[in-house]
Amino acid sequence: MEILKIEGGRRLDGAVTIHGAKNSALPLLAATLLAHGISEISNCPQLSDVAASVNILRHLGCTVTRSQDRVVVDSTPLCRSGVPDGLMREMRSSIIFLGALVARTGEAHMSFPGGCELGARPIDLHLAALRQLGVEIVEERGRLECRTYGRLKGTAIALDFPSVGATENILLAASTAEGKTTILNAAREPEIVDLCTYLIRCGAKIHGAGEGAITVEGVERLEAAPYRVMPDRIETVTYLAAGAVTGGRLALRGAEPEHIATVLPSFEEAGCTLAYTPGELRITAPKRLRRIRSIRTMPYPGFPTDAQAPLMAMTCVADGTSVFVENIFENRYKHAGELIRMGANIKVEGRVAVVEGVPALSGAPVECTDLRGGAALVIAGLAAEGTTSLRELHHLDRGYEGLEAALRGVGASLQRIK
Ligand code: UD1
Repeated sequence: MEILKIEGGRRLDGAVTIHGAKNSALPLLAATLLAHGISEISNCPQLSDVAASVNILRHLGCTVTRSQDRVVVDSTPLCRSGVPDGLMREMRSSIIFLGALVARTGEAHMSFPGGCELGARPIDLHLAALRQLGVEIVEERGRLECRTYGRLKGTAIALDFPSVGATENILLAASTAEGKTTILNAAREPEIVDLCTYLIRCGAKIHGAGEGAITVEGVERLEAAPYRVMPDRIETVTYLAAGAVTGGRLALRGAEPEHIATVLPSFEEAGCTLAYTPGELRITAPKRLRRIRSIRTMPYPGFPTDAQAPLMAMTCVADGTSVFVENIFENRYKHAGELIRMGANIKVEGRVAVVEGVPALSGAPVECTDLRGGAALVIAGLAAEGTTSLRELHHLDRGYEGLEAALRGVGASLQRIK
């Protein structure tokens, strides 16, 4: 078992480089299945979820080489259409392979994706949309047996909720379908725009990415193209919160503030000063943060649910009362229990969490409950008096490349021990 030991109370000062976005890299890697030839995806973060995607591509027969941030996928030898249970369970996002696989090979055989720590997290919207596009799907004994008869058929799909994953699966399946697909109430996240930009480079005809209605004119074939993954907006928010909570000063290289336009005002409300010059976002924090009146998570361009936990950690030591309303996932306050172990004053009632800021947290043994919850505990540990020992680090490794080295580089004291 690995433990991350954090000695809190050190002010962070310096520069951190933001990596490519995990949530963009995963659908992009799935999209390489559709692109004939050799795709070169650069700025791809080195994370366990990316490794899981690479394993799926390799299992399907693709040749994949990885060196640092470059993943090169040759889809020519693609020869399988089944993903084994073990690979599906490694990450929930494996469902993103369904649309691309069925569109490219006419078949997909896989189990339901891995369980999720954020609540039920169903895939009904994905399946209903793919059925509308002409995929025959049989769900039995935890498996999905999917088939098409000829090319998929473009159609109008209205999503009940702007699901990110469902929108991505539809885009992947519709790109090479016959005729036009319209997605109404589509997700508008920057990662959707990134996926569409890549697909367009490969020859897809997509209009309206980033808007609520997206149109896809199916083309017969996509050709591989090189692509650079966009910067990770949640990693950016995490470092902003780490800088803020320690009263520090950080420069985030490669961050894209436009993607977090609804998060940045919360840092200003807390008393931080933000400055942006192309390629660098800087934060300077006061000695004591102020409370953030209210944070409501919403689909993009609203406040991202993935930023909720890092900001909650910040408000634990802010002066005053902050209120959170989680509207995306039903079970996304597990980190609150761990923060309470460190001395935070948090009351959770259904979708609402009320945080009464305390003057200081104290280091304690705590556990990562999920990826962003784990990030919240690192942030709390940086602020706390004494030593925090963090367990279940595999959650963190899904989404933060080089976290310890980056934090050490700006003055934090932390060490991973076996
Ligand atoms: C993606 C992100 C995740 C982020 C989330 C919301 C990736 C790899 N993950 O997850 O980090 O927290 O967007 O911004 O990009 N839902 C259904 N039925 C479905 C699909 C979704 O009911 O078929 C519900 C979910 O249970 C959840 C809500 O819709 O309550 C949002 O889910 P969705 O937007 O699909 O998130 P993911 O794509 O899974």
